[in-house]
Amino acid sequence: MKAPTGVAVLGCTGSIGESTLDVLRRHPQHYRVVALLARRNVARLVEQAREFRPAYVAVADASLAGEVHDRLAAAGVDAQVLAGEEAAAGIAVLPEVHCVVAAIVGAAGLPSTLAAAGAGKRLLIANKEALVMAGPLVLAAARRSGALIVPLDSEHNAIFQCLPPQGRLGEAPPGVRRILLTASGGPFRDWSAAAIENVTPEQACAHPTWNMGRKISVDSATLMNKGLELIEASLLFGLPAERIDVVIHRQSVVHSLVEYVDGSVLAQLGSPDMRTPIAHALAWPERMASGVQFLDLLRVARLDFEAPDTGRFPCLALAIEAARAGGEMPAVLNAANEVAVGAFLDRRLAFGGIAETCAAVMEAWGRVEGAHELGMILAADQRARALAGEYIGRRATARSAG
Ligand SMILES: NC(=O)c1ccc[n+]([C@@H]2O[C@H](COP(=O)([O-])OP(=O)(O)OC[C@H]3O[C@@H](n4cnc5c(N)ncnc54)[C@H](OP(=O)(O)O)[C@@H]3O)[C@@H](O)[C@H]2O)c1
Repeated sequence: MKAPTGVAVLGCTGSIGESTLDVLRRHPQHYRVVALLARRNVARLVEQAREFRPAYVAVADASLAGEVHDRLAAAGVDAQVLAGEEAAAGIAVLPEVHCVVAAIVGAAGLPSTLAAAGAGKRLLIANKEALVMAGPLVLAAARRSGALIVPLDSEHNAIFQCLPPQGRLGEAPPGVRRILLTASGGPFRDWSAAAIENVTPEQACAHPTWNMGRKISVDSATLMNKGLELIEASLLFGLPAERIDVVIHRQSVVHSLVEYVDGSVLAQLGSPDMRTPIAHALAWPERMASGVQFLDLLRVARLDFEAPDTGRFPCLALAIEAARAGGEMPAVLNAANEVAVGAFLDRRLAFGGIAETCAAVMEAWGRVEGAHELGMILAADQRARALAGEYIGRRATARSAG
């Protein structure tokens, strides 16, 4: 019998991490959890370690290393403890790790995603921000090392499933006319622009069809998530932004579609549950059970499709602009958005201020220099974060003065 595949779950305490562990726990004969990494949710991390008995347990917040150590000892778990921001990249290259699940949220996931790509691992990428920032570098590293990348984002996983299997990521698939990315539209899809302006973090995080982490929930509510996904799709599937259309599909049953030059349109359908793309990506090219509810088309009854409204949701238009500009602009947009979403969740910025911040940073950016090296991307990320912070500060001062 084949030895079980060693899996590292980076971002194990998050929504994708938990869904991944739920799929893995159904297939202990095929998968062994070798490493678990979280940022600071020590209680859940140790609980998971008690169940899966990984060889490595890591916390990105180095100040929590002692606590993890003590709690693991108390739970009778014999694991090597790693700590600090570099722990994720270290885990991604361990020889006993065959498969890396990149489920850290935000730019913090980039070093480990790149490391896994460079080390020839099977790389399951949920961390879309890493691809938005440095997609070409990740793909080039994977090409050099022979790493297999399978996208976990439900839309990109759906597209992956609808494309010919012989295609190479990053290159335009033969015979494809365009990609249709579906979007639920988020919790405010039917709200007026004025009503959306001042929604609360609680309202923004209450997604109608998906249960996700807070940052991606806010991104879904602004439609920035769809914009980041458009950039991600453009990089992964080698198509320009003009050949990727976003379609609002409120049932979240059709996860995306590929239109071919002969008029055929292939779609992937399923319940809105991330365990389907996770199980697909783990088992590909085979299939395995994921634990999801099977789709009952008679209960779904109808599938609706509408055009997105970039007037009410300007973040989508900004992402399309960034995709067209290319170079470091997607990384700039991503950084500005991360800062703005953080400020919104901390109640320092109104919901409408997220798009305003991203637009202001992109406008202030000036000439696009290019993003051929990691150093250039990280420098752009840092500068864009500073610009976003300054803009949010100025906006707050102007409002309190007014
Ligand atoms: N949720 C979904 O359905 C979904 C779907 C498609 C794509 N994605 C993408 O998948 C990624 C994860 O999303 P999520 O919804 O699972 O997020 P989440 O629930 O917020 O979980 C994030 C995970 O990353 C860890 N983390 C946060 N900051 C970190 C850092 N600086 N270093 C190391 N680990 C860190 C967190 O640890 P702590 O818990 O200890 O803070 C947690 O384990 C995002 O890029 C998102 O866009 C998510």
